[in-house]
Amino acid sequence: MQRIFSGIQPSGIPTLGNYLGAMRNWAALQHDHECIYCVVDLHAITQWQEPADLARQTREMAASLLACGIDPRAHILFNQSAVPAHARLGWIFYCVTRLGWLNRMTQFKDKAGKDRENVSAGLYIYPSLMAADILAYHATRVPVGEDQRQHLELANDIAQKFNHDYGVEFFPHIEPLIMGPAARVMSLRDGTRKMSKSDASDQSRINLNDDADMIAAKIRRAKTDAEPLPGEAEGLEGRPEARNLVGIFAALTDTDHASVLREHGGRGFGAFKESLTALLVEKLAPIASETTRWLNDPGAIEAVLRDGAARAAALCDPIVAEAERLVGFLSVQGVKAGRA
Ligand code: AMP
Ligand code: TRP
Repeated sequence: MQRIFSGIQPSGIPTLGNYLGAMRNWAALQHDHECIYCVVDLHAITQWQEPADLARQTREMAASLLACGIDPRAHILFNQSAVPAHARLGWIFYCVTRLGWLNRMTQFKDKAGKDRENVSAGLYIYPSLMAADILAYHATRVPVGEDQRQHLELANDIAQKFNHDYGVEFFPHIEPLIMGPAARVMSLRDGTRKMSKSDASDQSRINLNDDADMIAAKIRRAKTDAEPLPGEAEGLEGRPEARNLVGIFAALTDTDHASVLREHGGRGFGAFKESLTALLVEKLAPIASETTRWLNDPGAIEAVLRDGAARAAALCDPIVAEAERLVGFLSVQGVKAGRA
């Protein structure tokens, strides 16, 4: 069975983009993979986080994942900082990664913007920590949204360079799993920008805890153009907002653009938006109520994460200990966890 690893930042209530691009796929993969899912709090602090918010948001993300159907008994769910091996392998990878590779990362350029001199060093080297997250488990499959593809290519470069430099075949090749027509859900206000938790406008996104009225209001106000829906997928070209709404509909019904348009082509946006709202409410309302149920019992969430961290450590400690041995770190018996 293939081993899956994926991570998600605890940076607020997840959006429809997170759900369709990540969390829903994570749940589905549990049927035929061994899955390790991580709330990446180490990654979160690459940008300033209020300490009390970070702890709460870590719980919220865990609750959302559980509500989306992650099974913490059959698989593993934990928060990254609870398993020190990630940071240990991360350091080794910072020393394998070349600055030239990091300079190509488009997500860093986006996030740093004009203020390059003033962002954290963590934000810059974050893709190397992400590589460590995955490779600490020798995981080979990584479900993510399209925006993470470049980071996974970098992870493979790191794995290859490590293997080459130390003359071993130790870290495996990673396959990105980028799924579905809505691999990239766009903002409801601007079809050329990704739907994001960090967008200043709450109107730009559907949150996984939005109630039916909120969903209806956001979809009603979602930006569109003046034309009715086209009959074929080609007709969506140059119409990013139309394409986005059709893509969301397709993803929620497990079909594609073409079949949504076969049914809805020729309709105006008013009517299509009503169908889309009904569909969103049907799919998201149960997740919202299940999230609330978990959040009412923070002790239960923490128990899930504690158990997950212990089982995660049991898997990755020996692998990271072996990487440290390959690098040549002197093993002082009894001091390092996981070393024989
Ligand atoms: P983030 O919210 O940026 O921490 O992303 C968490 C996960 O959700 C990653 O796998 C992303 O690729 C995915 N994701 C985030 N936003 C979107 C989006 N608008 N469309 C599709 N996937 C997304
Ligand atoms: N960088 C990812 C994001 O922002 C989160 C992440 C961290 C991740 N470590 C990972 C994803 C390992 C997949 C595998 O969405």
